[in-house]
Amino acid sequence: MKPSVYLTRKLPDQLMEQLAQQVELTFYDEADQPVPRAELLRGVEGVDGIFCLLTDKIDGEVLDRAGKQLKVISNLAVGYDNIDAAEAKKRGIFVTNTPGVLTETTADLTFALLMATARRIVEAEDNLRRGGWKTWSPMQLTGLDIYGATLGLIGMGRIGEAVAKRAKGFDMNVIYYNRNRKPEAEQQFGCQYKSKDEVVQEADFLVVLTPLTPETQGILGARELNMMKKTAILIKTARGSVVDEEALYEALKERKIWAAGVDVFAKEPIDPNHPLLSLDNAVLLPHIGSASIDTRTKMCQMAIRNVVAGVTGQTPPNCV
Ligand code: DGY
Repeated sequence: MKPSVYLTRKLPDQLMEQLAQQVELTFYDEADQPVPRAELLRGVEGVDGIFCLLTDKIDGEVLDRAGKQLKVISNLAVGYDNIDAAEAKKRGIFVTNTPGVLTETTADLTFALLMATARRIVEAEDNLRRGGWKTWSPMQLTGLDIYGATLGLIGMGRIGEAVAKRAKGFDMNVIYYNRNRKPEAEQQFGCQYKSKDEVVQEADFLVVLTPLTPETQGILGARELNMMKKTAILIKTARGSVVDEEALYEALKERKIWAAGVDVFAKEPIDPNHPLLSLDNAVLLPHIGSASIDTRTKMCQMAIRNVVAGVTGQTPPNCV
């Protein structure tokens, strides 16, 4: 008999087939809806593996319901703060993620947000569509230069390095703060290590790219936002809670900083009345950092490999 896997969201047909050929597959069948908690708890009962999304909270209760034969939890994301990994470890359950394949795509999107906020792309297009373009005028919709500006990175992991690489092409001066210094990245991208406060104070573009952990939760709050240049732009493609969203709203509203580009929020999807939606100096995206067809397909394939390895008694290739 094939080992069993519960999948919390349907994948494209070809990937469903690929997975179903290797395991006894059950899944939540509602198109593009997160599995309701009660359904999740029912679905995982007695399975060997769980294939889940970042929208699914996998905690002790889920693990209890799954039972002792559960061997692996495969997350379709590089971030895995939705999973109680410590609890899983205690029970000898592998937790896996999808690192690497989304690095360049997420760096592209980070840079796209940086450019969109600096050059007011969204606001300008909206103005044109609404009939606001009456004439060319000297200071109309003027933004900020990217070339030659200082890019400050908070977090220098894979995606941080990929952003630094792009910044080099724009002749930017790159400074960074990270738990550990990265001499190789310093050499390769000519970036300079500084304290967190120095990076916050000196950056024209401050990009946060740390994973969400108890240490990084709220790593940028009112204190840091108050230290930023008035002309600085904050870009957030890391998990939402690394920045205090209320403090960010205040800073943008009071024009303490120039603009922000945000792809990931503390609570998703955001409410239609989310305060940030009322601001014209914020470019807001629905968590699409890794959303290219190629990358999302690769992430699915990686997560399939991880879950299949776990349920067939092998060590999955991407354990966290
Ligand atoms: C991740 O992988 O953690 C992203 O947020 C989605 O690609």
